[in-house]
Amino acid sequence: MKTDNKTMAHQHNFTIQNNAISVADHSIDHIAQMLGGTPFYVYDKQQIIDRIDALKVLLPPQVKLHYAIKANPLPSLVHMIAQHVSGFDVASTQEMLLALQTNISATDISFAGPGKTEQDLRSAIIANVTLHVESTNELSSIQTIASSLNKKANIAIRVNPLFELKASGMKMSGGSKPFGIDEEHIDTILQEIDHTVIKLCGFHIYSGSQNLNADALIECQKQTLSLANNLVSLAQQHNHKQLIYINIGGGLGVPYFSHEKPLAVDKVFQHLTSALTQYQSNLANIEIVIELGRHLVAEAGLYVTKVIDKKESRGQQYLVCDGGLHHHLANSGNFGQVIRKNYPVRLEQQHTPIDDSTETVSVVGPLCTPLDILAEKVTLPTANIGDYFIIFQSGAYGASASPVNFLSQPALKEILL
Ligand SMILES: Cc1ncc(COP(=O)(O)O)c(C=O)c1O
Repeated sequence: MKTDNKTMAHQHNFTIQNNAISVADHSIDHIAQMLGGTPFYVYDKQQIIDRIDALKVLLPPQVKLHYAIKANPLPSLVHMIAQHVSGFDVASTQEMLLALQTNISATDISFAGPGKTEQDLRSAIIANVTLHVESTNELSSIQTIASSLNKKANIAIRVNPLFELKASGMKMSGGSKPFGIDEEHIDTILQEIDHTVIKLCGFHIYSGSQNLNADALIECQKQTLSLANNLVSLAQQHNHKQLIYINIGGGLGVPYFSHEKPLAVDKVFQHLTSALTQYQSNLANIEIVIELGRHLVAEAGLYVTKVIDKKESRGQQYLVCDGGLHHHLANSGNFGQVIRKNYPVRLEQQHTPIDDSTETVSVVGPLCTPLDILAEKVTLPTANIGDYFIIFQSGAYGASASPVNFLSQPALKEILL
């Protein structure tokens, strides 16, 4: 993107003025100075709020929006999001304790994930958090702990449906999966529930993540609601008459790569609104929860590094930066990508360029491994040492999904502005 001193432009939702990108009116250079240097992640609070508000307008009133903390667990960000959503999905005791420190009530926090330890279960029961049960053994542990505490445990059953979410970056249902209890065994597990120590609050049907295909999401939501409708009837037969919610998952993706188009979110929720009307006799008094992670935060985040060396090797120009794979594993292509592709990036010059010249470079991090790639063969304005190299779409699965201790590099900085 080319801008001159007088124009204001946008690149991936961020404002660019006088050739400098800004976050909440702070230039990158200003943020770097405040933080004592690079590398860092910066998240734009207003962009996250705007995204949530835009979704809420589209959601039918029965549908509640929860944030999946795993996407970005930065405490200041989680506290801020708590003001704008109805609940949290947590995946560990540490995430649960963070969620409990916000204004969200314990019963609107759900704890999912296979392999919860006895201490995880105990902490959640004591805190009144709803446990999403992933196996029959887990149910039996919960019942034992609840009865030893002389307390009722809130649970929802996570179901592995027979169907899958097509065209998903990550599929988490259909076929054999370690997540949830197979749909065909729900009747049996409902019989095993001890009503004296368990309150069955609902069901959780999570089919996948990072989906940009509206039709695939619509189809999956239709199947999910039909299954939910049957499960509610089944639960009633087993005398669970006061279900509170059905969590229908999420899966809304964000475009990371140049060939990807943003998801038609309005289309997805229009269909959800009309699909829900079909099931009003059974589902009318039950909340429908959607849980979203990356769709709320990914596009509001930047990862910022500095060019600290520039070199040529046998005809290929390299920019060497002070940040890399240890902070941003996903961008390096090592977090589930089959063929590595470049995230959208920007070089921000710190000198006044003498001309509009560009160069094709590979941008690497400081780690002594060929995996430490920030961008491969990208065409950028001609770089100097000291320029900023910025990676867009970095607000989710960044710092917390990266091997930050690898090679004992300096600690990473993060800020919400
Ligand atoms: C159960 C569950 N909920 C929510 C999410 C969040 O996914 P995303 O960040 O793609 O919305 C995941 C991701 O793996 C998940 O497993």
